[in-house]
Amino acid sequence: MLKIMCIVGVRPNFVKLAGLIDALSDMKLFIVHTGQHYDHVLDGEFWHDLQLPDADANLRVGSGSHIYQLTQTISQLEPFIGDFKPDGILVVGDANPSLAGALAANKMGVDVIHVEAGLRSFDNSMPEEINRKLVDGVSSLLFVTEQSGMNNLKNGCWGGAHLVGNVMVDTLRKNKDRIDKSDIIERLDLDDYVLCTLHRPSNVDGERRRTQIEDALLRIKREHQIVMPQHPRTKLKYLKTFQPAKYTDFIKLLACAKMVITDSGGVQEEALALETPCLTLRDSTERPITLERGCNRLVEPDGLYTAFRETLGTKFKFELPALWDGHASERIAKIIKVYYGDKPK
Ligand code: UD1
Repeated sequence: MLKIMCIVGVRPNFVKLAGLIDALSDMKLFIVHTGQHYDHVLDGEFWHDLQLPDADANLRVGSGSHIYQLTQTISQLEPFIGDFKPDGILVVGDANPSLAGALAANKMGVDVIHVEAGLRSFDNSMPEEINRKLVDGVSSLLFVTEQSGMNNLKNGCWGGAHLVGNVMVDTLRKNKDRIDKSDIIERLDLDDYVLCTLHRPSNVDGERRRTQIEDALLRIKREHQIVMPQHPRTKLKYLKTFQPAKYTDFIKLLACAKMVITDSGGVQEEALALETPCLTLRDSTERPITLERGCNRLVEPDGLYTAFRETLGTKFKFELPALWDGHASERIAKIIKVYYGDKPK
C-alpha cells in the first residue's frame, strides 16, 4: 500500500486536506498537524467541522518568528518521517507548514507532492511567494489549479506538473448540504451584508494602512452591514468582529454576501466558485484567473469605497475555470498512483 504523509498546520491547509482525504482513502496516510494554528478560532472547531480524522501527530509549534516555526517543524518532523517511511510527503498551498514539510522531505530523500503548485504573485515581499517557489523547487509531483500556474512552471523548466483543478472546490461540493443547513445568517441577523476578512501582515500590522482600510470600511458600513470573522492577528479599533466561523458557517456567509472584501488567497477562489463579487485588498494576486473572470478586483485602501460602489452596480457573469468541477482530488490520486506504479522501488 502506498504510504503518504500529509503535512498541514494552518486553516487554509485544513480546507484543502478535507477535499483530498476521500480520494486518498486507499493509501496509508499519516497526517501531521504542525500546530501553527492552535486556538479554537483557527483550529479546534474548524478542523472538526471539516470532518477531518484526528491528526496522527501534532507538533504544537504554535506562534513565533518564521525561522522558529520552520526550524521547529523541520526538526520535529525528522523522527516521524524516519519511522513512517513514506513514499511521498504531500503539502498543500504556500504557508510555513508546506515549506517546512517540503524541506524535511527533500533532506530525507522523500518525494514531495505539492498541491496548489505553480501560483505566483511575483511579489517577493510576501513570505508565501518565497514558500511557493521553494516548495515547487523540491517537488516531484506538482498539482496545479489554473493555467497561469502551468505557464509559470514551464518557464521555470519544472517537470511533473499537472493541471488538475482546485481541491477547495472539491471541499465546497463535498460539504454543500451541511453549508446549506448552516443557520449563521439567522443567528447573526443579517440581511444585505458585505463579508470582510483581513489578516495579511501588510494590511493589518502597520497602523497607517490598517487605519485607511478601517476608514473605508466604516464608510461602507453606513450603507450596508459588514460581517467580519475575527483573525487573532487583526486588531481593529472601530469595527466589531465576531468569533468565527466554522468552515460551513463561513462558506454560507460567503455564498450569501453581496460582496466580499478580503486579502486572503483562497477566499478569492471560493468567491468565484460561489458567484460572489470580490474586492481584494492587495496589489497583486497569485490567482490571476479570478481577475480574468472579471469578478475579482485588486484595490488599494484609498480606492476601496469607489471600487465598492462600482462593483455594487455591476452585473457579473461567473464562469468556473476548467477542471474546477469537484473532481480535482480524484485526478490527483490517480496521478500519484500512476507515478508510484511506474517508478522502480
Ligand atoms: C498564516 C500563513 C498565511 C495564511 C494564514 C491563514 C504563513 C507564513 N502564513 O498566517 O499564509 O494565509 O495563516 O490564516 O504561514 N495566532 C493565534 N492563534 C493561533 C494562531 C495564531 O492567536 O492559533 C496569532 C498569534 O499572535 C500569531 C498570529 O496570530 O503570532 C499570526 O499567526 P501565524 O500562523 O504566524 O500567521 P497567520 O497570519 O495566521
